[in-house]
Order: sequence, then structure tokens, then C-alpha cells
Amino acid sequence: MQCEDPQTGLRALIAVHSTKLGPSLGGCRRWSYDDVADAITDVLRLSKAMSYKHAIAGTGRGGGKAVILGDSSSDKTPALMKCFGQFVDSLGGRYITAEDVGMSVKDMLFVSETTQHVSGLPIEHGGSGDPSTMTAFGVYCGILAALAWNQGLGKNDSCNRSVVKNRVIAVQGLGHVGMDLCRQLHESGAKLIVTDIDPNRVAQACDQFNATANSPHEILAVPADVFAPCALGCVLTSVSIPQLQAPIVAGAANNQLGADEDGALLHRRNVLYAPDFVINAGGIINIANEQPTYDVDKAKAQTRKISETLWQIFDSSKKLDRPTSAVANELARHRLERNRP
Ligand code: NAI
Repeated sequence: MQCEDPQTGLRALIAVHSTKLGPSLGGCRRWSYDDVADAITDVLRLSKAMSYKHAIAGTGRGGGKAVILGDSSSDKTPALMKCFGQFVDSLGGRYITAEDVGMSVKDMLFVSETTQHVSGLPIEHGGSGDPSTMTAFGVYCGILAALAWNQGLGKNDSCNRSVVKNRVIAVQGLGHVGMDLCRQLHESGAKLIVTDIDPNRVAQACDQFNATANSPHEILAVPADVFAPCALGCVLTSVSIPQLQAPIVAGAANNQLGADEDGALLHRRNVLYAPDFVINAGGIINIANEQPTYDVDKAKAQTRKISETLWQIFDSSKKLDRPTSAVANELARHRLERNRP
């Protein structure tokens, strides 16, 4: 759906990929795209990934996503957010929106003035708050699982905090998710190498978590135990993968693979890839636990299971000699076809 409103300057797209398992739920991204074609490609890919993410996480929701074209720092106004809410409302609940890159809980409050089909509102407003903390927790659990699996440990160690102690984790992107992931890793004794296009965020991570700064252009090539992409998508391509030094890729960013073949390239190079829509599901699991009354412990327990799911995917990938991305795609498609989570 194309959403245009000259009065507020809103230019947005809403994509509903699937409502087979329930109403589609996915965040709204605010980004300055080069052109509309880029935004269309992004919203379509993101909404498909949301369908797969919900199917694997078993939330009983479908896949949808929205993008607002523009620069989040300069031209996001309450009127624009409310207008976006009206477009969401016109879909009658087929799409439920939430935060994504460039959006905040405050923005969702404005959206909630014009539609009830919005989640991720503050807890005091009946919501579950910013989903990023749970997303970061899920990614943290996924990193533990990947490290344990690569070390040949047993499944019981898939949530063992000690596996990350003294391990080097290269984190790309220090926004809502990346920064909180750094906190959790630092508290477990990991060594951090970080980068962001915003130097203030890099300084903050160095200061608070004793991280070492790196440049956005070199982070993929730093020697590390894990590369954690937590910025934008398409970071893993036929050009970037050969530069990768880490034997594990496990991070929050959506659509990390430039193309499906890049999952196969990672597999051939013996890089253990935690499929993005599996490892970054903590946020939607959190939101799916909003009704009837938000229960953070339940959401956390469900998010912790990301480790188990990844373990199964790693196991199947090894047994079948197939890329983890292909195994995860197949699992998601199978659940969608069965028409139940
Ligand atoms: P955010 O907007 O808070 O943070 C993104 C960060 O990446 C910013 O600090 C930005 O300056 C930085 N960045 C952008 N381009 C960069 C580059 N080339 N190199 C280094 N840093 C760069 O976004 P958030 O919420 O932290 O999300 C991060 C990623 O995780 C996104 O791909 C998002 O779609 C995905 N994700 C987020 C969820 C959430 O709960 N917030 C849930 C699931 C996925």
C-alpha cells in the first residue's frame, strides 16, 4: 500500500506479506532511501522476512512491514506519525505496526492516537515498551548458542554465559539493539570491537563497555570470534564475505544476506551463520506477549528458546551439508504451508 499525504509530507509504504498465521505484525522503518524503487525492494524483503520470523518463533502472527521515506533526525513530526497511523488503520487490523530503525516508543504513541493497530507502546500505556532490549537478549542467547556449537559443546551449553568470556565480538551498529547487546556481552566478560557511523555512539560503547573502536569499513575484516551485524541489511555479499575473519556471524540486522547464494557462500567458507530472522525474533516475541497483560518473564523465557532453535538449525545444516539459511527458510516455509506456527 502506498501512503502519501502532501500536507504532512508523509511518503510511506506498507507491505503485508502473509496473514496465514495471524494478522501481520512488523516494525515501521524510517530511512532516507535513494529512490522509491529502493524503498519498495526493502519493504517487500522485510515483510517476507517477518513472515518467516513469526512462523519460526511461533507467535501466531503474519508478516508485514512499513517504511517511511525520509530522514528520521530531521523531518519526523507528530502530525506525520498520526497520518501514518490513519493509513495503518485503513487496513482494518491486517497490519499491526511497531518500532524499527529510526523509530521510537514516542513515535508509536503518536501513531496510537489514530489507530489501535500499534504495538511496542510504553508499559504504562498498556504496551510492552521498546522491543529492542528483548531483541538484544535474543541475539545474545544466539551468540552463546553459536559459540557453544562451534566449540563442540553439548546442547545444554547453548545458554551458558561462560562460553562468551574473553571472546572477541565485533559489533556493527550501536543503536537500540547493538548498544544493549554490547552491555550484555560486556557483563558476561566478552571483549568488544565496535563501529557505528555515529562517532558519539562509538565513544559511548568504548567508555561504558571498555570496547575498542573500529571503522565502519573495516569491521568485517577484524579478527574476532563473532561478527554481529546490528546496523542495516545486505552486509553479507560475495564481495564482503571473503573479507570476513570471524568464524561466526550472529547479529540483529534484518536481511543480512545480499542474496540467497550468499548463505551458500558462508557455508562453503565454514562460517556458522545464525539466520537473521531466527536470531532477531526477541522483539516480536516480546510484542506478541503484550496481550492480555504484558508478562516480561514469559517473553524472556520464549526468547531464550532462540538458542534451541538455532541449535536445531546448526545440527540440520551439518547433517544435510546445507547452508543454515536454506535450512531456516525451509523450516519457515514448511510452517507457513502447514498453516500453523
Ligand atoms: P537503530 O536505528 O537504533 O540503530 C542502527 C544503528 O546502526 C545506528 O546507530 C546507526 O548509526 C548504525 N549504522 C547505520 N549504518 C551503519 C553502517 N554502515 N556502519 C555502522 N553503523 C551503522 O536500529 P535498531 O533498532 O538498533 O536495529 C538494528 C538492526 O536490527 C536493524 O537492521 C533492524 O531492522 C534490526 N532489528 C531490530 C529490532 C528491534 O527490536 N529494534 C528487531 C529485529 C531486527
